[in-house]
Amino acid sequence: MDSQTLKEKFTEVFQREDGKVFFAPGRINLIGEHTDYNGGRVFPCAITNGTYAVAALREDTTVRCYSMNFDEVGVISFELSELVNRKEDSWTNFVKGVIKYLGEAGYTVDKGFDILIYGNIPNGSGLSSSSSLELLVGVTLEHLFNFDIDRVELVKIGQRVENHFIGVNSGIMDQFAIGMAAKEQAIYLDTNTLEYELVPAEFGDNVVLIMNTKKRRELVESNYNERRSQCEEALRRLQSELDIKALGELSVETFEANRHLIGDDVLERRAKHAVYENERTKLAKEALTSGDLERFGQLLNESHISLRDDYEVTGLELDTLVHTAWEQPGVLGARMTGAGMGGCAIALVNKDKVDAVQTEVQAVYEQTVGYPAEFYVAQVGDGARALEV
Ligand code: GLA
Repeated sequence: MDSQTLKEKFTEVFQREDGKVFFAPGRINLIGEHTDYNGGRVFPCAITNGTYAVAALREDTTVRCYSMNFDEVGVISFELSELVNRKEDSWTNFVKGVIKYLGEAGYTVDKGFDILIYGNIPNGSGLSSSSSLELLVGVTLEHLFNFDIDRVELVKIGQRVENHFIGVNSGIMDQFAIGMAAKEQAIYLDTNTLEYELVPAEFGDNVVLIMNTKKRRELVESNYNERRSQCEEALRRLQSELDIKALGELSVETFEANRHLIGDDVLERRAKHAVYENERTKLAKEALTSGDLERFGQLLNESHISLRDDYEVTGLELDTLVHTAWEQPGVLGARMTGAGMGGCAIALVNKDKVDAVQTEVQAVYEQTVGYPAEFYVAQVGDGARALEV
C-alpha cells in the first residue's frame, strides 16, 4: 500500500491533511519456537508485510481510530482518561494499551490524536499482526510526541501491552523482531540476556515460502498460556536439585541426566522440547552462517517434529502443509512458525520449484482439510519506523 493512498483515506475519514505515515512489519520465526518464555534462543526475521498508520495530533484529549481493514466499524473514539480494555473497542484496545504503558514508563501522552490503520498481515495467521500493531502505535506516538525512547524499551512496552492489557502471556520474540529488525537480516536473540546478533538471511537459490493454514487462531483462547505454565511447572520440579532460573539454561546433557526429576510424562515432553529446540536454534544459526542450507533444513524438520510430538501445538492443518512439503522435490525443510495450532508454516524451497511445491501442497491440503491454504514468498524486511514525517 503506498503512502499517498493511505493519506488520501486519512483525509477522507478525518477531514484533515496533516497526517504522517508509519509502518511496522510482521514476522516469521525461522526456528526457536516456544523458547522465548523459557529464557532460550529465537531466530526470527521481519517480513515486508505489515501494518501502516497515518496519524496527526489533536488539540483535545480524544483519540479517534479508523481501520481500513474494518471499514464497516467506522471511527472508534475514546478519551485519554479511559484507558481500559473493553471488548467492543476491538483493535483500538491495542492503542489504549500502548498509551497506558508509555505513560507508566514516563512518556505521557497528554493530547489526543487521529489515527488511520491499514494492515496486510492476515489476522490470526501467526505472523504477529498484534505485535506489529503494538510497535506501530509505539513508533507513531514516539514521533508525534517527540519522545526519545530506547528501542528495546519500546519493545518491552509492546510486550507489556500484550501480557497485561490484552491478556496473552507471550514472550518477547515478536515485539523484538518487529522493533529491532533490519532488511535482509534475521535476528539471533538470546531471550535470557536480550543479547542479539543480526545474521544475513541468505538462502542461496532458495526462498522461504510461507504457507497459511487459514485456520484462525486466537492466542487468548488457545492453549498458549497452558503450555507456558507447564514449562514453569517442569522448571519448578527440576529446581528441586538444579540451580537454574530457566529451562533455557539447560544443555541437552544436563536435561537428560535430570529429566526424571519432573516425574510427569507430559511436563517432561514440554521441557524436552524447550531444551532441544534451544540447542537446535544455535545449530541452525551456525548452519545458516556457514551456508549449510541442507543442515539448516533438517533442523527445521526436527523442530516441527518436536512441536508436533512433544509440545503438541501443530494439528491437522499445519501437519498436512508441512508433511506434504517434506515430500516435494526442492524442499530443504519445513516447519510450523509462531505459536502453532493454526496460523502459518514455512518451507525453504528451491526458487525453481516454488510453483510446483505450492500446487502440490495446495492439492493435498484442500483434499485433506476441505478448504484452500494461502502461499506467499517471504521478503525479509526492515523494522518498525516512520515512513514519512
Ligand atoms: C507467539 C508469542 C511468542 C512466542 C511464539 C512461540 O508468537 O507471541 O512470544 O512464544 O508464540 O515461539
